[in-house]
Amino acid sequence: MTDRTAAAPPPVLDVRDVTVRFAGLTALDGVSFTVTPGSVHALIGPNGAGKSTCFNVLSGLCRPAAGTVTLGGTELTRLAPHRIAALGVARTFQNIVTTHGTVADNLMLGRHALTRAGFAATALRLPSAVREQREHLERAREIAELTGLGAHFDSPVALLPYGDRKRVELARALCLEPRVLLLDEPVAGMNAAERARTAEAVGELRAELGLSIVLVEHDMGLVMRLADDVTVLDFGRRIAHGTPDEVRQDPEVLRAYLGTDAPGEDAA
Ligand SMILES: Nc1ncnc2c1ncn2[C@@H]1O[C@H](COP(=O)(O)OP(=O)(O)O)[C@@H](O)[C@H]1O
Ligand SMILES: [Mg+2]
Repeated sequence: MTDRTAAAPPPVLDVRDVTVRFAGLTALDGVSFTVTPGSVHALIGPNGAGKSTCFNVLSGLCRPAAGTVTLGGTELTRLAPHRIAALGVARTFQNIVTTHGTVADNLMLGRHALTRAGFAATALRLPSAVREQREHLERAREIAELTGLGAHFDSPVALLPYGDRKRVELARALCLEPRVLLLDEPVAGMNAAERARTAEAVGELRAELGLSIVLVEHDMGLVMRLADDVTVLDFGRRIAHGTPDEVRQDPEVLRAYLGTDAPGEDAA
């Protein structure tokens, strides 16, 4: 069983001069930032700034026209999404909320990529395969506990409140045992209590698993509380970076948010 909790710190994730163009539109324009091992790095900016596009580049769904992304010494930019995932980069999606199966089913789907026993061995219930399944189930249960879903492990996802369902997505990404976790608006649509629980879970992940986390989030309270570093995008350009306090006072940032969502406020 892979247990990365005791492993070395995650490698540096370096985004260098990344440009992405969609017919006539530059979604990312020479964007650079570095995610320090074990830190929470927030990526913020108004709608359409290029945050999700950046995640698509990091996870291999989108190939940039220029620039590189490296994890440790390995260039990710030309790798297929499953290869990037195998290197320890897992993501959640902005708009996906699971509705099928139990929490356990969903987490075991996440474990699938790590399963060594082949289909035949599992189907034949060979002792090694049975043991492996049991270990995966135990780890899935631990991850459920860590993300505040422990009490719902055997519940159908469809019966859970929205906030718990959205956190299943986070737990499933964690089941890949990532070293770098990309969270695209993990509290979007949640009420205040759900946001608080998710924030607590993210804080614990960082403390207990030592992951690097890249966080796209509109909830500035959450960003200010959780992030070590903040990169601000506007129309595909990086307009500011620094600590949360530095960024919230940056005149460029205030200008970019003026008339949209002012930093310091919650914006859905
Ligand atoms: N697949 C695509 N095809 C064309 N335009 C896209 C595509 N994906 C994103 N865009 C555009 O790129 C810009 C950045 O989008 P996105 O990365 O989703 O922003 P954010 O996540 O910061 O709100 C937007 O103008 C969006 O409309
Ligand atoms: Mg987005």
